[in-house]
Amino acid sequence: MQIAIDGPASSGKSTVAKIVATKLGFIYVDTGAMYRVATVLTQKLGLDYSDEQGILAALKQADIQFKPDQAGQKVFLDNEDITLMIRTPEITNNVSQVSALAGVRTEMVARQRKIAAQGQVVMDGRDIGTTVLPTAEVKIFMVASAQERAKRRYAENTAKGIMTPLATLQAEIELRDQKDSTRVVSPLKKADDAIEIDTTQLTINEVVEAILVIVKQNM
Ligand code: CDP
Ligand code: CDP
Repeated sequence: MQIAIDGPASSGKSTVAKIVATKLGFIYVDTGAMYRVATVLTQKLGLDYSDEQGILAALKQADIQFKPDQAGQKVFLDNEDITLMIRTPEITNNVSQVSALAGVRTEMVARQRKIAAQGQVVMDGRDIGTTVLPTAEVKIFMVASAQERAKRRYAENTAKGIMTPLATLQAEIELRDQKDSTRVVSPLKKADDAIEIDTTQLTINEVVEAILVIVKQNM
């Protein structure tokens, strides 16, 4: 079975996908983290965020590893732990530019499908139900108001000691959604056969339970 979870930034995809995967014993794949790694690589090499050929060549050489960890997963680029680096504001604010490059997407989608071929998966991102796993048995499109999503990111940041104002976070989230939804290749879009869940008023547990019910109906 394949479970595809898509939706805009901070709608709760990765938190919920991780729990659902653990409960079902499935592999969890965070595709956003893969685009974030490509963005870190671009920054480290001093390449322009629009340099498609340069980024693609670097990606093909790079050793990228995701290792399960108590707190989720650790991310390594050429043996360097970049788990924290992929979530910095610099990377978050430039990832949409890198992820819009057609060549980068082709490379990432191939890697994602290879992982999915290894077993049952829960994969979250923007184009999983539409492009990466179009025949997934369960497709969820998770949404929440921009205000609520900014509040969640704010709480997360405060816990880490990052003090970006709430209004700035909301503006950044809306800008990223707009870029992700309007790009030419595989834009963020609900698949026709996806079930939409609005998480604005729901707890993490309530969303997990709602998805497990849908999974059982499709088993
Ligand atoms: O966690 P958050 O919602 O902030 O973002 P993410 O899931 O880590 O994804 C970061 C960025 O990667 C998104 O804003 C998209 O630009 C890109 N992305 C994508 O294009 N396609 C995917 N399947 C997953 C992420
Ligand atoms: O992966 P995505 O960017 O869609 O969102 P996330 O990183 O899973 O969730 C963003 C934040 O919202 C996390 O701190 C979650 O704990 C929180 N969250 C929540 O408060 N209520 C939910 N129903 C879902 C997520």
